Amino acid sequence: MAFDFSGKVVLVTGAASGIGLAVARHFLAAGATVVATDIDPDALLSVTVPPETASRWRTRRLDAADAADIEAGVDWLSREFGRLDVLVNNAGLARLESISDLTEAAIDLQFAVLLKGPMLASKAALPLLAEADGAIVNIASIAAIIQAGGHACYSACKAGLVKFTRDLAKEHARVRSNVILPGFIDTPILKAYGEGAALEAIKADLATHIPRGRLGRPEEIADAVLFLSSPFAAYISGAELVVDGGVTATPLETM
Ligand code: NAI
Repeated sequence: MAFDFSGKVVLVTGAASGIGLAVARHFLAAGATVVATDIDPDALLSVTVPPETASRWRTRRLDAADAADIEAGVDWLSREFGRLDVLVNNAGLARLESISDLTEAAIDLQFAVLLKGPMLASKAALPLLAEADGAIVNIASIAAIIQAGGHACYSACKAGLVKFTRDLAKEHARVRSNVILPGFIDTPILKAYGEGAALEAIKADLATHIPRGRLGRPEEIADAVLFLSSPFAAYISGAELVVDGGVTATPLETM
């Protein structure tokens, strides 16, 4: 399946690392003009792209949890390119904390980044996306559908994002809206579980619970994002795509 996004404009949040970076690179390789945004401008600037694609690669600091920043970003994009074909709400963070340890600040932060931000970005981008018969792809998590422990707030936000995506698809049918539920993907977000050798041991243990026998690669989520954004998915809207190497096909007691 060859994807061709020539002439299309794509906005990715949280594009300086992990899945967002892989998504941005995939779209760039498929011919799109990519607006790669992140809260960390230094990390964005450190990304290198093939010289022949540099004219289609734009970076912008954007706090995907901040309403004013989101509106200013979409306004800028509208003035700069006059169109938007795909919005990927990817920015995220993970925390390991029991419900007893949850603070108001931790709840507010996770809600803002993982749920409020995608809602506001979708709302801001809808007029441009509708003009382009465009698509929204939200990045949730299998945490939305399994109980792993230590992630109650994260899981609730991701479950909310799944539900929001369905409503988006129904209320604004001109824009196809879909949500991906990644499993365990090898990105810097896993530092929430530990560092160095301890983290490697955790990853090795995780892999033993994954039917495919390994963690996923960011590029494997990017493949799914491009598919859902492409004409190959023209009749797919309001759908949830699990990309987890078989984890959620496994009985919970074996996890
Ligand atoms: P990552 O840590 O590699 O990348 C996350 C990016 O989001 C970073 O560049 C970070 O600076 C950015 N970010 C954080 N807060 C932001 C904000 N307020 N505004 C703009 N950018 C912000 O993590 P990864 O794994 O690539 O995560 C991407 C998405 O995938 C997240 O939504 C995460 O919840 C989701 N996910 C990841 C899984 C994994 O195992 N890696 C599994 C399931 C879902």
